[in-house]
Amino acid sequence: MTILVTGGAGFIGSNFIFYWLDKHPGDRVVCLDKLTYAGSLSTLKSVMDRPDFRFVKGDICDKGLVLGLFREERPEYVINFAAESHVDRSITGPEVFLQSNYIGTAVLLEACRECGVGRYHQVSTDEVYGDLPLDRPDLFFTEDTPLHTSSPYSASKAAADLLVQSYVRTYGISATISRCSNNYGPCQFPEKFIPLMVINALNDEPLPVYGDGLNVRDWLFVEDHCRAIELILQKGRIGEIYNVGGHNEWRNIDVVKLILAKLGKPESLIRYVEDRKGHDRRYAIDPGKICDELGWLPETGFEDGLGWTLRWYLDNRPWWGDIVSGEYREYYEMMYGGR
Ligand SMILES: NC(=O)c1ccc[n+]([C@@H]2O[C@H](COP(=O)([O-])OP(=O)(O)OC[C@H]3O[C@@H](n4cnc5c(N)ncnc54)[C@H](O)[C@@H]3O)[C@@H](O)[C@H]2O)c1
Repeated sequence: MTILVTGGAGFIGSNFIFYWLDKHPGDRVVCLDKLTYAGSLSTLKSVMDRPDFRFVKGDICDKGLVLGLFREERPEYVINFAAESHVDRSITGPEVFLQSNYIGTAVLLEACRECGVGRYHQVSTDEVYGDLPLDRPDLFFTEDTPLHTSSPYSASKAAADLLVQSYVRTYGISATISRCSNNYGPCQFPEKFIPLMVINALNDEPLPVYGDGLNVRDWLFVEDHCRAIELILQKGRIGEIYNVGGHNEWRNIDVVKLILAKLGKPESLIRYVEDRKGHDRRYAIDPGKICDELGWLPETGFEDGLGWTLRWYLDNRPWWGDIVSGEYREYYEMMYGGR
């Protein structure tokens, strides 16, 4: 069987490719990725020369290229990870988010309609639900929680989800959607919360914490997310949405302190900075549906997963060293320089 993974040179997509090739010998994985600032071939180095892997550089918004690839490869599964994924960047430049996240999804769905696929899976996010108040720990996002987006990023993801659902209903496309909480693990781009804190701590640079640091996120190890997607592809019901999360809520400031403690660095590195515009207070997923229907459960505890993640960043300095010394520096100065 051939599967097409879009956005596979990024964080979760690359981890999914490694996971799939490991668990499904005999399958072929084709990765389509535009290689934006967030994607890198160095992430896929370990699989590039495998005969069961093919990398194609290209944009999911490119209709001709996408259709040609579908016709050539006839993928059984298509899993769409390709997206602009950083909320802060969506606030400073929303247009590319609408293009890649919404139009890109539309192009993929049209190709599915034209060529027919066994399953199209849309990798979405819990951010489509907006946020929850800090003083109501009894509330969680379920699949029926109304969409209530806070950033251009989450709005573009919610719009794409609606389009996927419309293709199921109107054209009978065999599609599913997952909405996962915050992921962490190896190969995450340095601008994201956990790698940002780890890399700054390793470099003895200040750790910028937005606002009061009390915002709550529900963290899931990336491999647990990959396993959830695998189960949805194999057993999920067509047209359904599955929330994915591990009931692992942490205040941002506590995650920062844990990272510092694990790395043996002082808390004096913490620097509170001006809050993100529209910053969501709390995300918390109710994963009851995927647990009950598909038997999914997270397998990695936060202490273990964070430990492996720190180990990965310690062992892979050249991977992130190249990134943080390049144009990323300018972005970093723009985001945090005057804050
Ligand atoms: N990171 C998280 O915590 C999280 C949580 C829930 C859902 N998600 C979703 O998972 C998916 C992957 O997230 P990530 O954190 O791995 O993102 P990422 O930014 O690390 O990677 C995105 C990848 O998509 C590629 N890409 C971007 N635009 C493209 C285009 N137009 N055509 C082809 N390739 C393109 C990039 O080059 C990059 O390799 C996204 O859809 C995101 O919304 C992420």
